[in-house]
Amino acid sequence: MSFGKVIEQLNTDLVKRIDKQKVPEHVAIIMDGNGRWATKKGFPRSFGHNKGVGVLKEIIKASKKLGCKVLTVYAFSTENWTRPTQEVDFLINLFSEVLKNEIDEIHQESIKIKFIGDLTPFPETLKKIISNSESLTKTNNKFLLNVCMNYGGRQEIVKVAKKLALKSSSGEIKPSEVNEELFNSELLTQGIKDPELLIRTSGEKRISNFLLWQLAYSEIYISEVLWPDFNEFEFLKAIIDYQSRNRRFGGIESLQDESYEDSECSS
Ligand code: FPP
Repeated sequence: MSFGKVIEQLNTDLVKRIDKQKVPEHVAIIMDGNGRWATKKGFPRSFGHNKGVGVLKEIIKASKKLGCKVLTVYAFSTENWTRPTQEVDFLINLFSEVLKNEIDEIHQESIKIKFIGDLTPFPETLKKIISNSESLTKTNNKFLLNVCMNYGGRQEIVKVAKKLALKSSSGEIKPSEVNEELFNSELLTQGIKDPELLIRTSGEKRISNFLLWQLAYSEIYISEVLWPDFNEFEFLKAIIDYQSRNRRFGGIESLQDESYEDSECSS
């Protein structure tokens, strides 16, 4: 059996262990470890980012095949501007190239692509490619790919707070009308269900300013694998782990299964 066939068989075996009725609708991913992967191999960090693009393609395909509906990936954080100019420029160029090369296939796959974050500081050429990609795919409905670029969770929350404060001071809303639903309706992810699962690669155990509001009740899966080595197999492992969790949203699942005294205050 060829190496490719062995991998395919391993993935098929894992898929069999997945309950298709309980596949998370929305998965968020912090794709971490590109730089370390490249450095470990004696390559410039850019090699890791290049390799990471292929992994992202594999995970989009795998999650869509499994029945997920939304994938949100952290491609560039508000903090990433502090990296050396050469790396920032490389990443900006990579985003442009990848989008130019892949957008037709994304469209053929009926994937809608949406960019989340403040795109203002990016070069006009990238902004143009982004807006063309969004308008080309805007009516696609099989799968939604959210790419977070120059995104920061705190910044997003502050922006919503400002908007609501302005609406309140102009009399459009009353302060007493501010609630979670109204707050949600002003978020960049407005209309999108919160992620049930957050995957972070490279073993880091932080949220790093990603989707702070939206991840309130998400299950978190930390993979020790660096993003360029992540693949469908590792993704399926994350889904199986997620399905073994007992999602209680701060409540208790069943009084028959668990006595009141044994349960935690919240989970
Ligand atoms: C984190 O690794 C990765 C990034 C900051 C960039 C991720 C971008 C891609 C995979 C390309 C995606 C392309 C599109 C069009 C969405 P790191 O550099 O923080 O790694 P380190 O923690 O080892 O330094």
